[in-house]
Amino acid sequence: MSFIICEDIKNLQGKIKKIAFSELKDKSCEFSKITARPFSSKKGILWQLEKYKNNQVFHENMDEKAFFVWLENDGRSTFRQVCLTAEGVTIHYTVFPDKVKKKESGNAVKTTQQSHNKEKSYILKQGENIPALVDLGVFSKDFNIVKSKYDKFKQINRFVEIIDDAFSKLGKDEITILDFGCGKSYLTFIVYYYFTEIKKVKANVIGYDLKEDVVKSCNEIAKRYGYDNLKFYVNDVTKDELYKGNVDMVITLHACDIATDFALFHAITNGVSNIFSVPCCQHEVCQSIKKGGDFDILLNHGLIKERFSALLTDSIRAEILKECGYEVDIVEFVDFAHSPKNLMLRCKLKKEKTPDLEKIRNLSEQYGFTQKLLTLISEK
Ligand SMILES: C[S@@+](CC[C@H](N)C(=O)[O-])C[C@H]1O[C@@H](n2cnc3c(N)ncnc32)[C@H](O)[C@@H]1O
Repeated sequence: MSFIICEDIKNLQGKIKKIAFSELKDKSCEFSKITARPFSSKKGILWQLEKYKNNQVFHENMDEKAFFVWLENDGRSTFRQVCLTAEGVTIHYTVFPDKVKKKESGNAVKTTQQSHNKEKSYILKQGENIPALVDLGVFSKDFNIVKSKYDKFKQINRFVEIIDDAFSKLGKDEITILDFGCGKSYLTFIVYYYFTEIKKVKANVIGYDLKEDVVKSCNEIAKRYGYDNLKFYVNDVTKDELYKGNVDMVITLHACDIATDFALFHAITNGVSNIFSVPCCQHEVCQSIKKGGDFDILLNHGLIKERFSALLTDSIRAEILKECGYEVDIVEFVDFAHSPKNLMLRCKLKKEKTPDLEKIRNLSEQYGFTQKLLTLISEK
């Protein structure tokens, strides 16, 4: 009986992006995982196999005939899981000794048509085969945006656009990004996908969150799609030790309250060149601020006090970053309708410097509030 994957490869000619083989059945095999990608050459279509052994990767090129022989023999008997990613469709195969179970998501014809219609202005388009987004519940199985996730989709798209703009100015061919308070990690996945699959840039992306179950599930999804350099850790960013290597970007999207301050502090103290931070629930100042001067009128009503405190918090953060040598813009990264928490601190390190914090300290003393980034920088 011919291996069903060979048939599918023939039917999807010209559309296949990657085939990942994982979960070893044959323990004598020295490779833990293999991925295969087709590419055009003077000799016609060749397949490049990437074979993973401990921390090393070995490459081997094969013509299509040899690849099919390999698939029928080694590919079939060595690995239990095979994931084929093609334009508009992802197929998972579970290979048993006597049968192959196949699960398909997406529809190549339908999505090709969809890609010609309205969503053109997005970097990531509805209908694009991004299987991780299906697992995360942002896309339906046929890669349409799930209605309730439309705002999130819009936010991550815009975020990626902004990051990409900064990346193109860095002049680098690889990138390391830390995401603080990544939660379900829609953004983290998309950033990784964008750099590795679209830009073909080596990306090392790390997400931190407090929630064990969410981190576990994100690591499982990353593994499922062979996203080897996308890692998630259960970490309290306010106290745990974080990644020590060189980092190009720190990102936060709605990381709660002072988690944002610890992200900014980490970036400042490690000389991270780019920060993209969309703060959320700025409680600290609101809880500690007292009347003390010309702005007292803004503290009379709960709602106004809350909004004023949030704006004051982000203004202080921006000022501290500026004092530490960053150029800071505060931009509305999406319309208010897509998220009321829509201000982004977009920061680029110009030259590290010792901050002069006197004006901000005076303000905090006058109004009796505490602000975590101010505290952290002051105690440094
Ligand atoms: C509102 S969610 C945002 C998640 C994600 N960035 C997004 O936009 O979908 C905030 C996340 O920050 C995480 N968080 C809050 N405090 C944290 C801390 N001290 N360390 C790590 N993660 C934290 C929470 O667990 C939560 O998942």
